[in-house]
Amino acid sequence: MYQKIKGTEDLYGDEMKYWYWIEKKAKDLAIRYGYGEIRTPIFEETKLFIRSVGQDTDIVQKEMYTFEDKGGRSITLRPEGTAPVVRAFVEDGMIAQGFPQKYFYIGPMFRYERPQSGRQRQFHQFGAEIFGSSSAIADAELIIFADRLMKEIGLVDYQIHINSLGDIEDRVKYREALKEYYAQHLENLCDDCKVRYEKNVLRLLDCKVDIEYTKNAPKITDYLGENSRKHYEELKALLDSVGIKYIENPRLVRGLDYYNRTVFEIHHQKLGAMSAIAGGGRYDGLIKEIGGKDVPALGFATGIERLILALKAENVLVDEIETNVVYIAYLGGFDVKAEAIRLSEELRREGIPVGFELMERGLSAQLKNAARVGAKFTIIVGESELERNIVLVKNMETGEQLEFERSFVVSGIKDMITEMQ
Ligand code: HAM
Repeated sequence: MYQKIKGTEDLYGDEMKYWYWIEKKAKDLAIRYGYGEIRTPIFEETKLFIRSVGQDTDIVQKEMYTFEDKGGRSITLRPEGTAPVVRAFVEDGMIAQGFPQKYFYIGPMFRYERPQSGRQRQFHQFGAEIFGSSSAIADAELIIFADRLMKEIGLVDYQIHINSLGDIEDRVKYREALKEYYAQHLENLCDDCKVRYEKNVLRLLDCKVDIEYTKNAPKITDYLGENSRKHYEELKALLDSVGIKYIENPRLVRGLDYYNRTVFEIHHQKLGAMSAIAGGGRYDGLIKEIGGKDVPALGFATGIERLILALKAENVLVDEIETNVVYIAYLGGFDVKAEAIRLSEELRREGIPVGFELMERGLSAQLKNAARVGAKFTIIVGESELERNIVLVKNMETGEQLEFERSFVVSGIKDMITEMQ
């Protein structure tokens, strides 16, 4: 017996209604906000992620699915969507199309993390990226978009955390201040933090163990230069002006290295440890870093599996996927079969989801099956019905059975479905 790889999932059945719900709403909304879709390959050159996500991040250090292909190249299954989109932007000379440019994507991402509820090794993101604008109004529009997405899918119990990481010069000063502060506590820090202290001192703020020390650590917002401070103030004022609620979180640093200025995360209150349902921010230096021009950019991504957990935690009712509104049962020779399949096509052409008997069972077994698959109506075609140019229509809820003249079946069924809705 083969088993799926740890941390992956097979998605099918009733669960798919959540996927359809989120993906449809996210795509429709992205288009309403002026984004075009981009689909990039699920694997890239390993160097791309080392360069963009950052050598010392957890993602690059421990979580990448990296392998050598038959041509001896080092390949990595994408752990996130931003670097591939930026790579495409630079490689295809998309800069020539003018600014701003807005792209969205939906697809699987891969991280070798310890699986638990809300954390998989293959998971799915919906993400959005904006190229070209350095203005705080772009940051505001992005956060408004993320908030609107949460609302449209039906979530209520979430909070938006925002912070500014400042510009490079600001962070140099802030890093020094952090180093100075943590130097006094170095002996007492957890082993991970001792390594972080050397490699990437900002990461210390992420530590779940040394919370006591984090509390009193210097805040980045006290080290912002004039320009990044103004940018942050303007963003907050813009969010206020549209009534978006947010929490300023000076410890929010994010797990990827490419950010500057605005960072944000959305946390769901009912999800426990894996509460981040979305995250993103500005990455003005990344396009240049991987070989492009100096183009400011920003974006965010949301984890679809976590959104589904959040929808379930809030008991949000999502649309059912109805595949068998009408079931066609039949009993008889070739002419009956041919009539049944003709009828099913007439209904399907009208947009009605039709279940069709493929097992050639007896009539009572067919009716049982119609009930199992949730049919609202079952149409029964037999020899005598065919002769009389009628069909029987059974309302599966009431058990009532009506005779329909053949030429009125399709319009009659359509009316009955409309009445039920
Ligand atoms: P991220 O915060 O690493 O950001 O991931 C975004 C979201 O993906 C998280 O908030 C979470 O909902 C989901 N996620 C991450 N890892 C897992 C996992 N192992 N299992 C399930 N869900 C997960 C990024 O990936 C950035 N590329 C976002 C971005 C776009 N920044 C700018 N543009």
